[in-house]
Amino acid sequence: MMMSTMGRGGARMAVAALALRSFSSATGGGAGAVGRQAALAGIASGGVQAPIAVGVWIRGMATTTGGDRTFATVTLAEQEQREEKKQPQMASGGGGGVNGDGNEDKEIVSYWDIPTRKIRKEDGTEWKWNSFMPWETYKADTSIDLKKHHKPSTMIDKIAYWTVKSLRWPTDLFFQRRYGCRAMMLETVAAVPGMVGGMLLHCKSLRRFEHSGGWIRTLLEEAENERMHLMTFMEVAQPKWYERALVITVQGIFFNAYFLGYVISPKFAHRMVGYLEEEAIHSYTEFLKELDKGNIENVPAPAIAIDYWRLPADATLKDVVEVVRADEAHHRDVNHLASDIHYQGHELRDTPAPLGYH
Ligand SMILES: [Fe+2]
Ligand SMILES: [Fe+2]
Repeated sequence: MMMSTMGRGGARMAVAALALRSFSSATGGGAGAVGRQAALAGIASGGVQAPIAVGVWIRGMATTTGGDRTFATVTLAEQEQREEKKQPQMASGGGGGVNGDGNEDKEIVSYWDIPTRKIRKEDGTEWKWNSFMPWETYKADTSIDLKKHHKPSTMIDKIAYWTVKSLRWPTDLFFQRRYGCRAMMLETVAAVPGMVGGMLLHCKSLRRFEHSGGWIRTLLEEAENERMHLMTFMEVAQPKWYERALVITVQGIFFNAYFLGYVISPKFAHRMVGYLEEEAIHSYTEFLKELDKGNIENVPAPAIAIDYWRLPADATLKDVVEVVRADEAHHRDVNHLASDIHYQGHELRDTPAPLGYH
């Protein structure tokens, strides 16, 4: 009786070893996964013949599909993980082969097993945003001087200034005192210049085989920051259908106009954005006044804003508007500086960009 028990246990171990050895010559394309399940099923049922048969079948597959031969050196748990990852490859169909040089030619490629990290916040809770990461968040410098104004002196400055001022009139007329909606809509425009400027500097860097001085990244950072303003304000104001239509129209016109303006005169383009930012500071100051008066409800800050600006958990809309206004003041400085660099006859790359200036 004892001999019988030991004999059965020994047989099981031998079968398991045989089954695992079979994987070492099985393909990574999924045959290993199928074979392993079948082999384990055989072991569980106490059968002996079935796993051996499976092992032979796997060897047969290995000669036709090629594959991964490292299974014999990994643990069973690792095998499980690897085999699970390879499942989508099987689902996509096809197979590998041997090319003319005798090298293994992998025809099946799955991109679903690109490792993704689970990011956690400082308090240990899971990071729930995919669009930005904890290391991109910051505390806004709200002590920045909000009243700085570049006095237009040259003709280009004056054109830039009055272009912005003339755009203010229809904006005031359309939105009046709906500052939440106004902020959301204006951010759809404000996020364009940084991307256009960054893109043009990127292309210039490629064309001329030269460094950018950090200005590409600085302008793209501005565009991303403005887009985060939009992602925040759309949590507190939902656009109506005609507002969405307006955004599409304005974007179509503004993107192309700014592109052209930047190509012709970057000093004008940056100056104009500098003045746009001055107007944005004014708009957000009015927004804060309405919040203080109680005309706009000071609702809790959206979760995205709390994480992006590292605000306290009990932050409100007023806190959000204050940090957004500080951002606009930083954009104002960056763009007026960029224009000044051009005015002095330099390229932007000649002056290190104020990267990370928040
Ligand atoms: Fe903004
Ligand atoms: Fe801005």
